[in-house]
This record gives sequence, C-alpha cells and structure tokens, in this order.
Amino acid sequence: MIKYNIPFAKVECGGNELKYVRQVLASGWLTTASKAFELEQRFAEVVGARYACAVNSGTSALHLAAEAMGIKKGAKVFVPTMTFTATAEVLRYLDADPVFLDVDYGTCMITPEILANAVRKHPEVRYLIVVHYGGQAAEMGSVGRLSRETSSSGILEICRKNGIKIIEDAAHAFPTTHCGRMIGSIGDATCFSFYANKTITTGEGGMLTTNDRKIADRARVMRLHGIDRDIWKRFASKSTKWEYDVVAPGYKYNMPDVNAAIGLAQLEKYKELHSGRMRCAEYYMRHLNGIEGIDLPVVTRHMEDHAWHLFAVKVNAHAKVDRNKMIDLLGLRGIGASVHYKPLHRMTYYKSRYSLKTHDFPVAEKIWKGTFSLPIYPGLTKQEMVHITGTIRNLLGR
Ligand SMILES: Cc1ncc(COP(=O)(O)O)c(C=O)c1O
Repeated sequence: MIKYNIPFAKVECGGNELKYVRQVLASGWLTTASKAFELEQRFAEVVGARYACAVNSGTSALHLAAEAMGIKKGAKVFVPTMTFTATAEVLRYLDADPVFLDVDYGTCMITPEILANAVRKHPEVRYLIVVHYGGQAAEMGSVGRLSRETSSSGILEICRKNGIKIIEDAAHAFPTTHCGRMIGSIGDATCFSFYANKTITTGEGGMLTTNDRKIADRARVMRLHGIDRDIWKRFASKSTKWEYDVVAPGYKYNMPDVNAAIGLAQLEKYKELHSGRMRCAEYYMRHLNGIEGIDLPVVTRHMEDHAWHLFAVKVNAHAKVDRNKMIDLLGLRGIGASVHYKPLHRMTYYKSRYSLKTHDFPVAEKIWKGTFSLPIYPGLTKQEMVHITGTIRNLLGR
C-alpha cells in the first residue's frame, strides 16, 4: 500500500526563479532596485491598475493602504470576522477600530445585504476592508472601466452611496476576475500577498495596487521611512545622489530585489499556476459532490474567475465525525489540512478589547465549527487527489 505524505501547501519554483535570483546576486545590489520596479510594472499591467507598489508583505500593503486612505485614530472600519488577523491588526497600528461583520455561509464572505444592514446599524463607519476569501471575488456589483463607475447593486454601490472607502484584501485573490475585470483595479486600493503558500509567491512579499495617484504616491513614500525619493531613484540619478528629505515618519516595507526576482518568474507563469489549481478544484468539486456530511464551497460565478488559493469545505450536522477529528484522521492518512479561519471575534485580543459575543456571529460560528481546507496546488497529482477524496468519502459517507 502507498504511504502518502501530502503537504497542505507546496510551492512551484521550477521556472526562471533561480535564473533571476542569480542575476540579482551578480548585480551586487540585493535590496529594492530594477527587479522590484519591473515586478510593479508587470503586475500593474496584468491586473489593469494604474499604479503598483511592491512591499515586503500583504500586511504592509494593508497598513500602507489604510494609512494612505486617511484611516486615523478613532476611525471605524468594517471588517469580516472570517479572515486572517492581518486584515484587522493594521487598523490597530493606526489606532483605528474594526467593526466586525458576520459572513455568508456558502462563500464565507460579506454580501451586499450584510453590508447594507451594517451601514444602517453603524452609519458613522467610513471604511470597509473587503476580503476576497479563498480567491473568489466578493459580490462587488458590476463594474465599469473606471473604478468610479458602478452600475448595479453590490458592495461598491453601497459604499459609494454611503461615502465608504474600500480597501480590498486580495491576499488570496490573484488572479481573480470579477465581471470581466481583474481584482486589483476595482476598489480604492487593493492589497495582495505573495507569502510562500499564495497563488504566486516571492517568499515573503506583497503588492498594493490602485488607480489613485495620491494613494500610490503616499504608499511609496511611507514604504521607505517617509523618504521623499526611493533609494533606487537616488542611486540611479546622475546628480545629488546623497540628498534626500524625510517628509513623514514612514515604515520599512520595501521589497528586496531577491524576492522580486522570484515574483517575476512566478508572474510569467501565473496562468499555468492558476490552471493547475483549477484542475484540483474541479476534481474536488466532482468527486466530493453528494457526500452528505460535507458542504462544498459555493462558486458564485465561473470556476475560472476564482484564484483557488483555498479549497475550504465544511463538515455539517450529518457528518459522522467533527472537524477536529476529521483533520486528525486525514493527518493519519498522510493528508495535510488546515483551517481558514478561526474567526477574529473568537480571538482573545479582539474578543476582549471589543467585548465580542459569539451569538452576534451565528454564520461565522457555524462555518468555524465545520471548516477545513484541503491541499490545492499545481503539483498535486491525480493519484493524491484520488486518495484525498476517497479518504473523505470513507470517513464521511457513501
Ligand atoms: C486574508 C489575508 N489577509 C492578509 C494576509 C497577510 O499577508 P502576508 O502574510 O503577506 O502579510 C493574509 C496572509 O495569509 C491573509 O490570508
């Protein structure tokens, strides 16, 4: 019998990654320089955004976006509870406060209805961080060519009507399409993560994209100590190389070229990486369909619009085993699984700071009790997927 050892995530680095990293090493300049700028340009082109700002994590992209959009002490920001802590923690860096929202069961995301109710209850809130959970776009509504044009009811329209600015947490959402447009050019600012298990990676890294010049300029200054000129520009310029000014107390969030080199190689093959993930999602959809004890993720539009960063299923009331037991049993059979997420209203810090009660988040509670995520990456073999789906079928039902 085959002994399986299927990791939850596995990076595919067999393209030009090494070649480009070698070029950086040979150049003698390892921090931010031409590779990072090339990655910004290419990424902006792919997602259709005017500006892209490469940084050292998705978290720093979120922090920069929030700062550049004027989120300050005391500001309140809608955030779904079903997300990673980074989405909300960046607000605390700025002394602002998250207002947590429950989510929809099938997609694990906020919906226009959830947002509309929240706006009625908290009319003072002026910002939203929407999370494109798992790699699927939230219900933004139909979008025109420019980000200010929205034409049918959706999250964008509710926000525009109520003067709410939107940051998109697209840590999972490259390449994700919404109404024919890629995520990255729709909201006021969009933040991607290139962490090691993401759909494209730089090891650690992130990207902020926007169509708003002011947001881009501010993020560029703040990502490097509040210095008015990028170090790369200083060294590339023929005159006054040494001189710079500090215009704000910024951060140290620039993306080194070693990481950008990996990102460029990953970006070259993003379509291939995406179809590799989609192949896994389609297999799971087909072969886990009809098992009574499990609920599959709900795809609101087309399979190919989804980035398929996660394939998160939910054990339901018909299941013979609970979620924790399920993960243990999968582990014993050589299958790595994970949980996305323990919702933020359950985390000690947020729970105690904001006196949050589980009964205010009934849907997220139901998701949390049942959810677990399966391995999904281009290198996952058919044989491994047969083992994964067969094991789940054996454990849960027919
Ligand atoms: C939804 C979400 N937002 C933000 C982040 C932060 O990204 P990073 O790890 O690149 O800082 C993550 C990371 O996994 C995430 O899942």
